[in-house]
Amino acid sequence: MSEPDRGTGTNPGDVNPGDTDRSDVNPGDADRSDANRDEAGRDGRDEAGRDEAGRDEAGRDEADRSDAGRDDAERVKERVAEIWGFAAPGYDGSWGHGLKTGAEKRAWTAALARMLPPGPLRLLDAGCGTGFLTLLLAEAGHEVVGLDLSEGMLAVAAREAERRGLRPRLVRGDAERPPAGLGPFDAVVSRHLLWTLPEPERAVRAWRGLLRPGGLVLAIDEFWPPLSPAARLAVRAGRLLDRLAGEDDGGGYPPDLAGRLPLHRLADPGPVREVFERAGLTGVGVEPLTEVDRAERAVMPLRLKLGFDYRRYLIRGSCP
Ligand SMILES: C[S@@+](CC[C@H](N)C(=O)[O-])C[C@H]1O[C@@H](n2cnc3c(N)ncnc32)[C@H](O)[C@@H]1O
Repeated sequence: MSEPDRGTGTNPGDVNPGDTDRSDVNPGDADRSDANRDEAGRDGRDEAGRDEAGRDEAGRDEADRSDAGRDDAERVKERVAEIWGFAAPGYDGSWGHGLKTGAEKRAWTAALARMLPPGPLRLLDAGCGTGFLTLLLAEAGHEVVGLDLSEGMLAVAAREAERRGLRPRLVRGDAERPPAGLGPFDAVVSRHLLWTLPEPERAVRAWRGLLRPGGLVLAIDEFWPPLSPAARLAVRAGRLLDRLAGEDDGGGYPPDLAGRLPLHRLADPGPVREVFERAGLTGVGVEPLTEVDRAERAVMPLRLKLGFDYRRYLIRGSCP
């Protein structure tokens, strides 16, 4: 699965996005007299708690709030980049991330060829990490730019590119606010990125802006469908075996960080489809990536096969 081991040595306590708003509290607000409150006890504020000037309970107007929201998202991304920086050296060796067999590589290569029009194309791999898609697509003859926040992940991608004799362009930057001058692209692709973005809609809008007319946004991610009682038992048995083998990863992102990510651990891809549509993409469609799941699962040890509780999907949309 796409989350790193919690035992990566990351210290999730370093930055707490929940602290952002506290320093903005305006002490004067506490003195507001009860006489100003309406029958609902709302003291003339609207349902969102804003006064006539649009200031919220902490005295911030719209511009302050969007600055605070942006600072909050930036802090979330700093933590995310730090986590993946720690995870980078072991990333390709871990299950659900790097390729383990020729059969798995063939399944991915076939899936990518099916998703994209004939090339060579100019492609952006957003959140490229250690270069999973970047390198497969460069091997298929496309011109690929890999963009990632984490230096550590990009360093692994650069070494692997050299080993495979490939020359993608690797850029450090934010997929939600891509650096200027990268486009235009025939398609923006991503794998296992959307779930870890604090503002996924902003990202998809930005990608749309980098596309040629008719260009594609293709995102691959995972969801966790509701399980039958028998499947739940199997997953529990797998976890137990994991623990006995000393391989239990503790469950990924800490809850306060996961809570800041709107697409984290979805039960179905519906919310991602909504993001694509709100971002103005057309012809949005979702399909399962059963063949790559099957190829990955085939070589897993029993404990992981039993605990395999996620499904990969592809979501696509076009730039009108
Ligand atoms: C689960 S890994 C996936 C890596 C790669 N796409 C793959 O399929 O193996 C998530 C990656 O997204 C990167 N990332 C997270 N937030 C990002 C952002 N806002 N901009 C660019 N990269 C980001 C992380 O640094 C990490 O490399």
